[in-house]
Amino acid sequence: MCGIVGYVGFRKSPELLIEGLRRLEYRGYDSAGIAVQNGNGGEINIRKKAGRVDELANLVQNDPVDGTIGIGHTRWATHGETTDVNSHPHIGGNGEVVIVHNGVIENYASLRTKLQEQGFVFHTTTDTEVVAHLIAHHLAEQIKLGGDPASVDTCIAAIEISLKRLKGTYGIVALFRDVPDLVVAARLGSPLVIGVGDREHYVASDASPLVGYVDEVVYLSDHELATLTADEIHLKHLETGQLSPSIQTLDQVSNDVELGDYEHYMLKEIYEQPQTIENAMRGRLNADEATAVFGGLNLDAPQLRRIDRVVLTACGTSWHAGLVGEYMLEEFARLPTEVEYASELRYRNPPLSDRTMIFAITQSGETADTLAAMRECKRKGLPTLAICNVVGSTIAREADGGIYLHAGSEIGVASTKAFTSQVTVLAQLALFMGRMRHLSYPAGSRIIEHLKAMPEKAEQTLKCDELVHDIAKKYHGFDNFLYMGRLYNFPVALEGALKLKEISYIHAEGYPAAEMKHGPIALVDEQTPSVFIVPRGSIYPKVMSNLEEVKARKGPIIAIACEGDEKIADIADDVIYVPDVEEYLQPIVTSIPLQLLSYHIACMRGCNVDRPRNLAKSVTVE
Ligand code: M6R
Repeated sequence: MCGIVGYVGFRKSPELLIEGLRRLEYRGYDSAGIAVQNGNGGEINIRKKAGRVDELANLVQNDPVDGTIGIGHTRWATHGETTDVNSHPHIGGNGEVVIVHNGVIENYASLRTKLQEQGFVFHTTTDTEVVAHLIAHHLAEQIKLGGDPASVDTCIAAIEISLKRLKGTYGIVALFRDVPDLVVAARLGSPLVIGVGDREHYVASDASPLVGYVDEVVYLSDHELATLTADEIHLKHLETGQLSPSIQTLDQVSNDVELGDYEHYMLKEIYEQPQTIENAMRGRLNADEATAVFGGLNLDAPQLRRIDRVVLTACGTSWHAGLVGEYMLEEFARLPTEVEYASELRYRNPPLSDRTMIFAITQSGETADTLAAMRECKRKGLPTLAICNVVGSTIAREADGGIYLHAGSEIGVASTKAFTSQVTVLAQLALFMGRMRHLSYPAGSRIIEHLKAMPEKAEQTLKCDELVHDIAKKYHGFDNFLYMGRLYNFPVALEGALKLKEISYIHAEGYPAAEMKHGPIALVDEQTPSVFIVPRGSIYPKVMSNLEEVKARKGPIIAIACEGDEKIADIADDVIYVPDVEEYLQPIVTSIPLQLLSYHIACMRGCNVDRPRNLAKSVTVE
């Protein structure tokens, strides 16, 4: 949460920073700001504003700043309201230091009191201003001890001492007034990546602002501090000392972050699914051996064969994909599987034997709770793997091994293509683990054939868009929705409800359809549409009975059903047909109309689809 960008080099930094913030805006969008330093005089000018990056851009256009060094920030508020003054960057002391920060400083209140006693005046209600003043305080202390205010060493000493006093998480980037060719970045818990250029360096919360500018990056790890000038990078581990930067190739392509002809990223990403499903399988299906192949699990066959239990841990949409994975792993590999909310697992103490394999499922690879749950399991010595989209993200780097989704950047806050890619990867994982156990060669071959058909099935499903648009017209004024499905479509019901609530602000609940009679049926009335996910399958008649029960109580019904199911049209008010696929792969085709339904409803209600209120794409704070 919150996006940070910094630059030191020869380009005009205000334009560059604002462009970078636009690319990072999906991380938080309550307010935005930049601080620009002029390499000649050292003066640092700040422009900041509550609201979107566009508002900051207007401010800078009307009141320009000039320089080739700078830092920028787009905020998702944790401490303090979203006001101009609370926006980052924040000034320490009398302007000796200016910082941007991502994360949460847990001991900010006690530090603030101490700094106030020492004469520091606070202008904001943020935790970040405490850090800025703390660095200014230690800078003054260093100078008292004989440090040269214009020396890099003095600034680094001040920042290091300050960081040791912080409890919580941070990604911090700082400018120092008296050293006007210096950007300092430090990380504990909140991601930062450095872009390595020719006579220029960048730093950002993720690689998106660097695309098109540099080909090489260095990912900062926790407890690392980077000192950047136009010509040099120095890295230091705050506990163990100097480090040499491990430079990696940036393999993100620029059109990934472009909107193209689409009105919103969410719609673009929904339409990318035939391709992203294909990408999630590329090079992974081995028809000769009727199994899947993964290059990065980093566990050999005997180790994998020993596994007798799987724990999938995740948040939000990734957790829903995990539920689909649970059903698949139990059905095909006969492996007892549990799906744990990462926010619970990190503090719970479940019995985990050395035969348990942990998979963290995450699109961003930066979700704070998922990272913490993974670290907790790793600390207990368990094989800890990740199913992740963002290459080089913290979870991808810290996991013992894993599987990438290869879905490309997902910018819309509502996760869409990541879900179908996660389901595709989990199906292959179930095939792979199954073939090491009870699954026969013919059964494995059939799964491969079913999987190979999925990109085409997703393409066919997308043809429902116009119909879904019309259905959205009919229902966009309702304030409560129920979503119901069973077996593989129970997680889809949860996911459909999440999609609707997060982007349209309509109250929606997802349930296993049979649970309806245990409570939710009390909500059914003419004003509460029920979305039933009822494709053909083993318990089709059972779900149909649930549907009849809603009908009997005059609840409007939207059904997601298989092509050719004429019976359902007699009962449901509206039917969206999807291709008939194997039950375990139905979540891929049944989730797509639900993504489109929430998209169109949100648009019709005038909501900001890609940047819904109160949310951010990567939840990097607890
Ligand atoms: O990046 P992750 O997959 O770890 O993110 C997990 C959730 O924060 C995420 O899925 C969230 O629920 C989305 N907004 C759902 O659309």
